[in-house]
Amino acid sequence: MLCCTASFTASALKPMNEFIDELMSRMTLHEKIGQLNLQVAGDITTGAAQDTQVSGLAARGELGGVFNLKGTEKIRGLQKIAVEQSRLGIPLIVGMDVIHGYETIFPIPLAAACSWDTTAIREMARISALEATADGIDWVFSPMLDIALDPRWGRIAEGEGEDPFLTSVIGAAYIKGYQGAGANTPTGFYDPRSAMTCIKHYALYGACEAGRDYNTVDMSHVRMYNQYFPPFKAAVDAGADSFMSAFNTIDGEHATASHWLLTEVLRNQWKFKGFVATDYGAIGEMPNHGYGDIKHCSAIALKAGTDMDMCSRGFVTTLESSINDGTVTEEQINIACRRILEAKYKLGLFDDPYRYLDPTRRARDIYTDANRKASRDMAPETFVLLKNDNVLPLRKQGKIALIGPLANDRANIAGTWCVAYTPERYSTIKEAMERALKGKAELLYAQGSNLTRDAQMQRDAEFGKTIARGDEATLKAEALEVARQADVIVCAMGECADFSGESSSRAYLEMPDVQRELLEELVKLDKPIVLLNFSGRPTILTWENEHVDAIMNVWFAGSEAGDAIADVLFGDKAPSGKLTTTFPQAMGQIPMYYNHMNTGRPVPEHADKYYKYRSNYFEVRNDPLFPFGFGLNYTTFSYSPVTTTGIAARTADGSQAITHVSCTVTNTGSRDGDEIVQFYIRDLEASIARPVKELKGFKRIHLKAGETQQVTFDVTPDMLSFYNGQGQLVFEPGKFELMIGPNSDEVKRTTVTVN
Ligand code: NOJ
Repeated sequence: MLCCTASFTASALKPMNEFIDELMSRMTLHEKIGQLNLQVAGDITTGAAQDTQVSGLAARGELGGVFNLKGTEKIRGLQKIAVEQSRLGIPLIVGMDVIHGYETIFPIPLAAACSWDTTAIREMARISALEATADGIDWVFSPMLDIALDPRWGRIAEGEGEDPFLTSVIGAAYIKGYQGAGANTPTGFYDPRSAMTCIKHYALYGACEAGRDYNTVDMSHVRMYNQYFPPFKAAVDAGADSFMSAFNTIDGEHATASHWLLTEVLRNQWKFKGFVATDYGAIGEMPNHGYGDIKHCSAIALKAGTDMDMCSRGFVTTLESSINDGTVTEEQINIACRRILEAKYKLGLFDDPYRYLDPTRRARDIYTDANRKASRDMAPETFVLLKNDNVLPLRKQGKIALIGPLANDRANIAGTWCVAYTPERYSTIKEAMERALKGKAELLYAQGSNLTRDAQMQRDAEFGKTIARGDEATLKAEALEVARQADVIVCAMGECADFSGESSSRAYLEMPDVQRELLEELVKLDKPIVLLNFSGRPTILTWENEHVDAIMNVWFAGSEAGDAIADVLFGDKAPSGKLTTTFPQAMGQIPMYYNHMNTGRPVPEHADKYYKYRSNYFEVRNDPLFPFGFGLNYTTFSYSPVTTTGIAARTADGSQAITHVSCTVTNTGSRDGDEIVQFYIRDLEASIARPVKELKGFKRIHLKAGETQQVTFDVTPDMLSFYNGQGQLVFEPGKFELMIGPNSDEVKRTTVTVN
């Protein structure tokens, strides 16, 4: 046995390549394949539960890593088996789906993106890594950088929305936050308060047909390179050390067995050096796509560039025999094995396999006041105020009715994917509002309705995060009685946490019928109504927008959601998020996104009628209900016309700005506030059709009441470039429109000609 603690002391550890050469020279083929095996360890399962007998696998050197095991004691137990009982004592890598926080839960990723605050997101990731590593985890399956245009797809909640540029910069912020300096530290190993990221799902998973999870993807290369790939390339550039391959097919090939995707694009074009793990059971699912048996699927996945097999047990059970047949070479196994050993080396696990297993850290690092404060402070930046007819913020006076199935719930408000959540510690909105109003105003409460009329659907959707179910008529009568006594009504309604996330596609995106019926009755009382809309996706709020006075999308804001919502309702803080996904008026408009192509037969912007032989619908106009980038505040901002300065010509080295585009933004309200200023371009003369708008810059600025600030964006050649169908980045001189505004719709424009 070559036990790590004995043989790999800090001083004894050789440089990475030398160390791994030496180690691999002693590994049998069986042990090398063992490193490619990733298994779930049993705390939580997201796929079919298996009896993986991880301890036996670890002892025999047939296991590279585990996930879904948490707690330093449990992980130490398993790590000890790998280190002390396996022949070479190679430690395990320990993964987990840390999606939006660990025990301190942050707003779901789609909400976090709506903050457009990369500093806050980086801090969210740093804290998530701090907490996860304090519980023994060294590898996080995050961030998810899948562009999603279809809100039927539940996993839109886990991504950043529809924009490739925004998703790219947010992705980089997550990576820096989780990984810290990565292995670029004085020791050459990760700091044990940082975790390795796993970028997912590579690639195009978000484009599944009809928004139905795991469904087929088929797409042009122009679209892939310009719209779906940029965040993944940016993740490589930001130093991500591992990737997760996707479940879907692409152009008929499975993403997990696509040599083009995994080797030509990821490694040859983008220069990715880390390792690729499959998604859960992806190889095992390939026979369902018509690829033949698991042995064949394992061989083609490995040869395509997949290094680690998550839960299919295809690699461990078939690769040796494929080598004997000559369908796979030992060199191909060596490449994958080396990449995984490199990750373990970078994590410092060969230096000390227990360095992530300090039992004293839990008390110091997890769910601390500071971590919780960061989550509570971030949440208002993620809330998107969609409508406000002078109702918000509420005064702390009189009688306030709080109504709705999410109003006194602590299991759902944190959000869809909280692997270490402890809802018993969270405040409900009701509790938080009671605290905020104590001695000043009276809070009345009623649940008002079930989540849905369909009890089975409610149970399926809740997935353990139960909302109390009652008799519909009684709940409604109670709520109306309460509402009649109040001066203002706050409704906490919408989706529950697991209406979005994995395996949560929806065919109807309107407010669930029982909740809508209740809202209709409340509207009839003719009192001011604030709707707190809970959602993990854009939902259809057309009726609500016509009938209630204020709508704030609060998504699922994490463990501190209750207090954060109370902070904003009463104006102690202002909501300052802006949408990163378009909210359609009607289901039939889906997919709907701001950066679409033009047609040859467009209708006039904001057309108010149907045009025959033009690109539009009979029943609904082409505008969204709320556009990408939209969000109100408790103050207002005005934008001046845009101006450009500098010479409109490409610089010789291509690195300097072509021009600068500016505008002045004024806080025209009576409150200080944050504004997210957005910069878009349009290429008017290109060799292929280009989108009507593309986000190329943004700034989150703070303006005091009455204050004015000039905001300037550099226009650089890369912003004006695009990928052609061969994946080449091209720059074409010509006319470009430059636009600045508070959202993708209300922009001020100018045109430049670039020679
Ligand atoms: C399946 C999901 O698609 C992926 O995002 C996740 O990381 C794995 N399961 C592991 O839980």
